[in-house]
Amino acid sequence: MPTALVTGCSRPTAFGQLTAKALAEAGFHVFATLRNKERASNLKAWAEENGHALTLVEHDICDPVSNRNAVHEVLDTAGSLDVLVNNVGMSSFGALETLHGDHIRKTMETNFFGAVDLARHALPIMRAQGAGRIIFVSSVAGITGVPGESIYCASKFALEGLSEALAMEVERFGIAVSTIRPAFFNTGMSMHNTDASAFFRRGTAYDAFNDRVVASTSEGEVAGEDPALVAQTIVEAATTDSPKLRWEPGAAAPEILAGRRAMSDEDWRVYVMGELGMSDWLEPERQLEGSGS
Ligand SMILES: NC(=O)c1ccc[n+]([C@@H]2O[C@H](COP(=O)([O-])OP(=O)(O)OC[C@H]3O[C@@H](n4cnc5c(N)ncnc54)[C@H](OP(=O)(O)O)[C@@H]3O)[C@@H](O)[C@H]2O)c1
Repeated sequence: MPTALVTGCSRPTAFGQLTAKALAEAGFHVFATLRNKERASNLKAWAEENGHALTLVEHDICDPVSNRNAVHEVLDTAGSLDVLVNNVGMSSFGALETLHGDHIRKTMETNFFGAVDLARHALPIMRAQGAGRIIFVSSVAGITGVPGESIYCASKFALEGLSEALAMEVERFGIAVSTIRPAFFNTGMSMHNTDASAFFRRGTAYDAFNDRVVASTSEGEVAGEDPALVAQTIVEAATTDSPKLRWEPGAAAPEILAGRRAMSDEDWRVYVMGELGMSDWLEPERQLEGSGS
């Protein structure tokens, strides 16, 4: 039975848990990680009821020992690691100048360094097997800058660069590397466990800007697409006979990224600020609509 390690499986409506279920249904023994196993008792019960092989693994991606242990638990239990889905991620909002330094580091640690750590533990195992897939859940924000999400973008751009380079390093060993680039999906990610205002300082020249960023992100998420589409795309990336580097699930991601490729940097900036309701921010003499300041 092939094995998959899927990180960040704490929530039933989000990509990690949906992917864990979809891979289990596709015949994988899934090792689903989360910070607190008790939060996924529903997932365990679902697997037992449906006769699927699914093991919960306690894991904190910011702890290097935990990263090593998660990968080795798969190998020690099942004897192979066929697919690694690096799904853990956290949101980050706020103009760069207003962000707390510890929040910046935590975001990069969670979204980038942790995933690198897991990949580095998985690679020797996959190389010895002569086969394996490493899938990084990136974002359209890994291709195009989003105002007010500079650090989130930095973490996802980093994953995109890493993946493109890594894919060429390891292809000869039978290992395929992919990124998944979702746009807006209704997982509740941006607000599920964090008060976004804890990311940044208030009482700055960016208060209206930061408020608009938080509002537009939650609006985009609520109107987002079905997260099950992302889980299906990850299963395809994990199982296809023709692996490819980049996957753009749903309708919005291909449209956004085609738009980005077609426009100049200058046109894109104006378009994005308009889409986010922030055109006035590009004009120093104007206030953001509705800010009252
Ligand atoms: N939703 C979207 O529209 C969208 C779009 C583009 C990309 N993405 C990416 O998709 C991935 C999954 O996001 P999601 O939308 O499905 O929301 P999510 O449920 O918030 O997924 C993030 C997962 O990462 C876990 N996590 C965060 N910090 C962790 C840590 N230090 N150690 C271990 N686990 C940690 C969370 O666990 P806790 O519950 O314990 O915090 C959660 O299970 C992320 O990489 C995100 O950047 C999402």
